[in-house]
Amino acid sequence: MQVNAIGNVSVNKTNTNIAKSKGFSRMDISFSGNVRSKDVTSKLSKENSNLVFTANDKTAKVSINGKNIDRKNILVTGASGYIGSHTAKYLLENGYDIVTIDNYTLGNKDANKELKKIAKENGAKFKSYSVDIADSKGVGKIFKDNKIDAVVHFAAYSQVGESVKDPYKYYLNNTAKTTMLLDEMRKANVNKIVFSSTAATYGDPDANEIPIKESTPQKPINPYGKSKLMIENIMDDADKAYGLKSIRLRYFNVAGSATDGRLGEEHNPETHLIPNILYAAKAQAKGEGGKPFKMFGTDYPTPDGTCVRDYIHVEDLARAHGLALQKLMNGGETGFYNLGSGSGYSVKEVYETAKDVTGVDIPLVIEDKRAGDPPTLIASNEKAKEELGWEPQKSLEDMISSAWNWIKNDKWKKH
Ligand code: UFG
Repeated sequence: MQVNAIGNVSVNKTNTNIAKSKGFSRMDISFSGNVRSKDVTSKLSKENSNLVFTANDKTAKVSINGKNIDRKNILVTGASGYIGSHTAKYLLENGYDIVTIDNYTLGNKDANKELKKIAKENGAKFKSYSVDIADSKGVGKIFKDNKIDAVVHFAAYSQVGESVKDPYKYYLNNTAKTTMLLDEMRKANVNKIVFSSTAATYGDPDANEIPIKESTPQKPINPYGKSKLMIENIMDDADKAYGLKSIRLRYFNVAGSATDGRLGEEHNPETHLIPNILYAAKAQAKGEGGKPFKMFGTDYPTPDGTCVRDYIHVEDLARAHGLALQKLMNGGETGFYNLGSGSGYSVKEVYETAKDVTGVDIPLVIEDKRAGDPPTLIASNEKAKEELGWEPQKSLEDMISSAWNWIKNDKWKKH
């Protein structure tokens, strides 16, 4: 992780302690007062006009002297959703101020409340607006009233099956509304965006294309994937025409909850594998019968007959957004990156791991295949490692145990 320090930098006692707890040595953080390029240790480098403090993908909190601190103010759309809220939390804990937009169709007001608290604890500025991204007047005013440095755009629908049944919903909500948001950004001269794209833009790649590289042809097989690919294409045109710099993050299978238990995954209805296994575990542990985990298909052309996916912890994903923002802030060009662990687990393997982690003998029924599930999707994450300096740190067990912690506690009472 990089922390940008522009101008005068000091490291106060509190921040020094936090930095130490994150694994920085005294040497790394013993500077204070004005930092000029000639003063810096090898841990600090100069990029464009910014001093960049880098240390083994770990973050230190640095405070910047005076009122005119160059903290970045990031507009986060869909900040009350699953990935949006975890990323907003990460940004607030890592030196950013944020402005959030959510229309609360799918977002959770409890997540927004928690983010507000997290902002306060971290001395970060936090403003939230209950606005739809297609409300041009409202969004235009938000850009006018707040100095926004960059946008991180999550707000979207993301259910493959629903997109097949109701494609207009996806093309309108995901593609058309994002174009409206981009137009407001252009009017406000905000030209940096990190965008939630998806592995679904690759469709069902040939076996010789696994692991999937960013150069693998994008051939989505459902309206959800197409709606996101169209935005990627629009962003390329916008770069040429208006100088929009975008980083598109193509997520593989995101799972897990905040390690500190403050945020979690709350979809209604829930369609994802790990939470569904855990809801079955919870019902079993409570002695409720008739709620088994449904395994969709066991005769796929994979080693154990069930689909193989690349699971990535939501906190690893959140950190990647921070790195992508940093890259754009440092004058980085438009780019796109796969975010996955680089290894695959079958549905059966995930189910067995969940039994081990929870200690519950989770009841199982085998169902028919779900329409449109490709047998194997595994990411090559080399490009993100090389160009963003990103490395996933959490295991499948971490994803399942943090999700189990969340689901067991049922903080927000949705199910
Ligand atoms: N599965 C089950 N039972 C369930 C839920 C899922 O057996 O109750 C199986 C699915 O059939 C699939 C695997 O578990 O084989 C993973 O399914 P998920 O629904 O958890 O995830 P998907 O791979 O279908 O989709 C996810 C995101 C999409 C994104 C895609 C990209 O939900 O938005 O990853 O790889 F497009």
